[in-house]
Amino acid sequence: MELSCLSILLLLSWCSYVDGTSQGALRGACNDMTPQHSGNSPQSSAPPFQITVDKTMYEGGDVITVNLSRTATNQFKGFFIQARNQDGTKIPGFTLIQNSKFLQCDTPNDAVTHTEPSPKDSVTFQFTAPTTSRGNITIVATAVESFNTFWVRIPSETIVDLAPAPTGASSTILPNFVVVTVTVLYIYLFQQ
Ligand SMILES: *[C@@H]1O[C@H](CO)[C@@H](O)[C@H](O)[C@H]1NC(C)=O
Ligand SMILES: *[C@@H]1O[C@H](CO)[C@@H](O)[C@H](O)[C@H]1NC(C)=O
Repeated sequence: MELSCLSILLLLSWCSYVDGTSQGALRGACNDMTPQHSGNSPQSSAPPFQITVDKTMYEGGDVITVNLSRTATNQFKGFFIQARNQDGTKIPGFTLIQNSKFLQCDTPNDAVTHTEPSPKDSVTFQFTAPTTSRGNITIVATAVESFNTFWVRIPSETIVDLAPAPTGASSTILPNFVVVTVTVLYIYLFQQ
């Protein structure tokens, strides 16, 4: 009995530690990518930041340049970036840059975040695509302008997996832009 009370206490203190900080996002933000800034909500306006990728298709091992950058005058102090497939599985593959670190969400190195809060115009990461097929990938980013002001789960274009589908592949070929639009819409709707 005493032991289980102690574990609950430990769990509670661990939970209250799960937060967003000037030294980077913490694990509590892994799924909804929302910094736990004492109840502040994400902005619902269009983000003044974008996440761009230099490839919209990949084969195993391809290196993709991922750039989170400002689109207005707002700079960001913090960021939290993941690669996810259409099932929402987080895919590791980022290479660290200066003033960044990995956060382990579900598997090692499946998210990157900042280590210091200076105002930034952009950050650029290399993402090495998985060598075994993991499906279509979207990069998603949270950008924190200030403690109260942040935008969550900003999506990139979808990066389509060029590996053949394992079974019963349909021969339907849709124009890429239709599929990308639908996929982004899907991600937008289902990750709100
Ligand atoms: C990232 O995007 C910004 C804004 O478009 C651009 O100024 C910067 O050069 C880009 N960085 C890289 C490495 O592509
Ligand atoms: C990935 O996108 C392509 C088209 O761009 C689509 O044909 C394929 O079904 C998608 N894969 C999955 C697993 O959704």
